[in-house]
Amino acid sequence: MAITVNERTSITLRTAAVAAVALLALAGCGGVKSTAVSNGALPETLRQAVHRGKDLFYHPTFGGNGRTCETCHSAGGTTAGRAPNGMKLPSLMNAAAIFPRVHGNGVWTLQDQLTHCVKAGLRGTPPAYDSNAMRDLVAYITSLAQGKPIDMGGTPF
Ligand code: HEC
Repeated sequence: MAITVNERTSITLRTAAVAAVALLALAGCGGVKSTAVSNGALPETLRQAVHRGKDLFYHPTFGGNGRTCETCHSAGGTTAGRAPNGMKLPSLMNAAAIFPRVHGNGVWTLQDQLTHCVKAGLRGTPPAYDSNAMRDLVAYITSLAQGKPIDMGGTPF
């Protein structure tokens, strides 16, 4: 079948369009990698989530017995902490890089750990998994591990 000039032009244009979209997609990924992550300049929305999460870490008791995260995880989780019973706790500096981990017979995500700490540590009511409070707490804990290598199932330090 003979291809007319018009058909050939439209094939060429279509090929060029596909290539342009692919290039844009690549450029998009590269942009995120080189700005937001490697130099620590977080997008404003994320920066605000980290800020709110830090506030949640220091202040609310989640309706519990008066403790906050800071009661056990000192200096915003940046140094070794201590539970009220004297048990030494690791810092939370790489926590986000070592979850998920094995817990009992199952897998625990960072959200599972935060839920557990609110229930068992604060004797409070944990924020729902899909709540903004949970997102903000995860954002804050993850900000502590920014730049640390992912080491799923690894050891806290
Ligand atoms: C009563 C003390 C206590 C309070 C209060 C508490 N936690 Fe914990 N938290 C612990 C203990 C104990 C562990 C387990 C440490 C371990 O893995 O050996 C832990 C572990 C964690 C871990 C995982 C650390 C790691 O790398 O393994 C995170 C993250 C965490 N807590 C966040 C929080 C947050 C956020 C809050 C506040 C909502 C909170 N905790 C409140 C006692 C507490």
